[in-house]
Amino acid sequence: MAKKMWAGRFEKATDKDVNDYNSSLPFDCKMYSQDIEGSIAHSQMLAKQGVISQKDAEDIKNGLLSIKEDIESGKLTFDSDAEDIHMFIEEELTDRIGDAGKRLHTGRSRNDQVALDQRLYLVDEAGEITELLGGLIDVLVDIAKDNLTTYMPGYTHLQRAQPITYAHYLTAYIEMFRRDLDRIEAAKERANISPLGSGALAGTTYPLDREAVADALGMNGVTFCSLDGVADRDFAIEFASACSILMMHLSRMSEEIILYASQEFKFYELDDAYSTGSSMMPQKKNPDVAELTRGKTGRVYGDLISLLVIMKGLPLTYNKDMQEVQEAMFDCIETIKAVLVPFTGMMKTMTIRKDNMEAAALGGFTNATDLADYLVKKGLPFRETHAISGKLVHFCIENNTTLEKLPLDKLKEFSPAFEEDVYDAISLKTCVEGRSLIGGPNPETVKKYLDEL
Ligand code: ARG
Repeated sequence: MAKKMWAGRFEKATDKDVNDYNSSLPFDCKMYSQDIEGSIAHSQMLAKQGVISQKDAEDIKNGLLSIKEDIESGKLTFDSDAEDIHMFIEEELTDRIGDAGKRLHTGRSRNDQVALDQRLYLVDEAGEITELLGGLIDVLVDIAKDNLTTYMPGYTHLQRAQPITYAHYLTAYIEMFRRDLDRIEAAKERANISPLGSGALAGTTYPLDREAVADALGMNGVTFCSLDGVADRDFAIEFASACSILMMHLSRMSEEIILYASQEFKFYELDDAYSTGSSMMPQKKNPDVAELTRGKTGRVYGDLISLLVIMKGLPLTYNKDMQEVQEAMFDCIETIKAVLVPFTGMMKTMTIRKDNMEAAALGGFTNATDLADYLVKKGLPFRETHAISGKLVHFCIENNTTLEKLPLDKLKEFSPAFEEDVYDAISLKTCVEGRSLIGGPNPETVKKYLDEL
């Protein structure tokens, strides 16, 4: 095992099992690029401040870039007993450029370094995730635009309630995902602050220019307390929390996809490329993508809970427990990315069974409220009209028919206020178009909303 950089005060080498247990290299190697980026910014600043020579800074930069290149080409692999990515890169750098490599860590601790790397990594990944989520929103908007007058039942208690359109239904999820996008963006902006200069916990006596480093890294500013700078992992928790809410939305939508693709609903026909079969039952076509999304929601919640529990009892400032933050954060990122791609593809390729949606809207007495409202317009009080409409629904159920199929003289038996115009008043078209207030299902209203996005 290579000698530890901190071995000065030790008389024995680290036990092999302890080293394996302690090492974060198997997972923090993901952050090699951010680690190198941060080290270049730090060393350039050190030279500018006169802490190291310009020549050393140049050697460090070139050395780090060559390491990056070799990692990316596969020439340099992470099979090493180094304690973490920071040590791995620094050891490699010193092997390559000698003493200058040993000057890189001046005025820095792994405590502020790892906090920086994680923030930079999160910022990069959050950017990718917002791209993917934006792509899903775009697909939903396109489908909605094609379905402004596709009638379907809206549900409460999973019982048919009132007629809406499929476009209106989709705008509900578009709204949820737009809020998710905002939350992830906000978490990203708050993460994009540099802790470098916090040192191990108490800052450093070197004349570091913290702001210059933050600027060079494209960050929004610097942290204001060195203790907090190394001890804070809120950024990971906030991000996982935004991701958990996103997963909750994806999971609710998945639940509906699973229902709507069933033979009981038949609103959706999933594309063959986005569904799976059964090894035993030849007729099966299963909505695995939606089910896995629903399942992976638990996993992301687990990441959030892990993060909260890891951090809850830690005294200031850095504690090794915090290394565990990385795996939960990485898992959250990987899971969200893994979910969004096939989920978007599934939505994009599925067939909407408009006929079945409309038949369901016609079948469930979804216009019973509008029938009651019709009588209100004829001058009756709503509580009375509600009762009349209820009695008519009961009559229809007994006689296996629907409200709009009842002849006028039958309707008049329930209330003399009914006239010929009732049929228009309770058609799906009128029910939907009449709800033209902001947020309602009226096709023009929904179109305006979609156009404005
Ligand atoms: N691998 C460590 C982590 O992720 C880096 C920081 C180590 N700091 C220390 N004082 N041992 O937390």
